[in-house]
Amino acid sequence: MVDLFVTIGGVHMANPIMPASGSIAEGMADLVDLGKLGAIVLKTITPDIRQGVKPPRVVEYTDATLFSIGIPSKGPDYLLNHTVPFFARFGPPVIASISADTAEDFGTLAGYITDPRIAAIEANISCPNLRAHGRAFGMDPVAAAEVIRAMKANTDLPIWAKLTPNVGDIAEIARAVEDAGADAVVTANAILGMGINAETMTPRLGNVVGGLTGPAVKPVILRMVNQCAEAVKIPVIGCGGIATGEDVVEYMLAGASAVQIGTMNFVHTAAMEQSIAWVTDYCTRKNIARVAELTGALKLPVDQNSEQRGAVAL
Ligand SMILES: Cc1cc2nc3c(=O)[nH]c(=O)nc-3n(C[C@H](O)[C@H](O)[C@H](O)COP(=O)(O)O)c2cc1C
Repeated sequence: MVDLFVTIGGVHMANPIMPASGSIAEGMADLVDLGKLGAIVLKTITPDIRQGVKPPRVVEYTDATLFSIGIPSKGPDYLLNHTVPFFARFGPPVIASISADTAEDFGTLAGYITDPRIAAIEANISCPNLRAHGRAFGMDPVAAAEVIRAMKANTDLPIWAKLTPNVGDIAEIARAVEDAGADAVVTANAILGMGINAETMTPRLGNVVGGLTGPAVKPVILRMVNQCAEAVKIPVIGCGGIATGEDVVEYMLAGASAVQIGTMNFVHTAAMEQSIAWVTDYCTRKNIARVAELTGALKLPVDQNSEQRGAVAL
């Protein structure tokens, strides 16, 4: 019997696999056995009600998706009165995800949604900071830390900081949010990208720029998870391009304590359940008693250190 149990930033999970924010909606309950997941991460909400950006919102590439949705949000009351009760009945811990225009608003919203049915709050800091001319909070260690401190001041719930990969040194941001009190980091949100239609000479997305996700981004985010795991003591949750149980194992070997699956849930609704089964079989085959033993078990060349991985001759 493999022990799949993990504890991530104050949240006890039956296994290390959960959906990424924005990748499951209520309709998925008919397609996925939500009770089997390690946790249920909800779509990001904002303090206000938002419609999202104009279409087209999604472009498909080989092995990747470019999207810009713009966080349509029904606001915190809908979350507490409808979304949380809907998902809480399945059993796994429910993780809320929030975003706001200022650090203070992140703090106020975290306080407002603090509720015993919510196990942790994920801070989506890949959104624009109004006070920094729209630069994402997660692109600046000071702004990222301010968000986490404001949330910590308003709630006792564990805070997971979901980092943006659109930075030069992600380890610096991970350290900043850890110092500010984050209980875990999620590495990472989507990679900024742009699509162009040569025939019409127009951008493919209504919002022009969007986020790239799906299997093609895995090597980029795997590298970032490895850097974060070496930089901080709090757990790192890997998120980017996971499609199979093998991908989950790769992320855990790189240093992740748990993982989130996003785009693949739209392609293949059994992706999370099949990944849990695959990881269980892998551990059995490898004689690994506890899945947590995989975290950071990557066998690196003995003559290479993490600084060298930070600047590689290409
Ligand atoms: C359609 C769509 C909606 C998303 N919505 C959110 C969101 O509300 N909040 C958030 O933090 N990330 C959101 N993401 C990003 C995912 O949570 C995840 O970080 C990203 O897709 C990378 O993982 P993947 O390669 O497994 O998809 C969204 C992604 C997609 C494709």
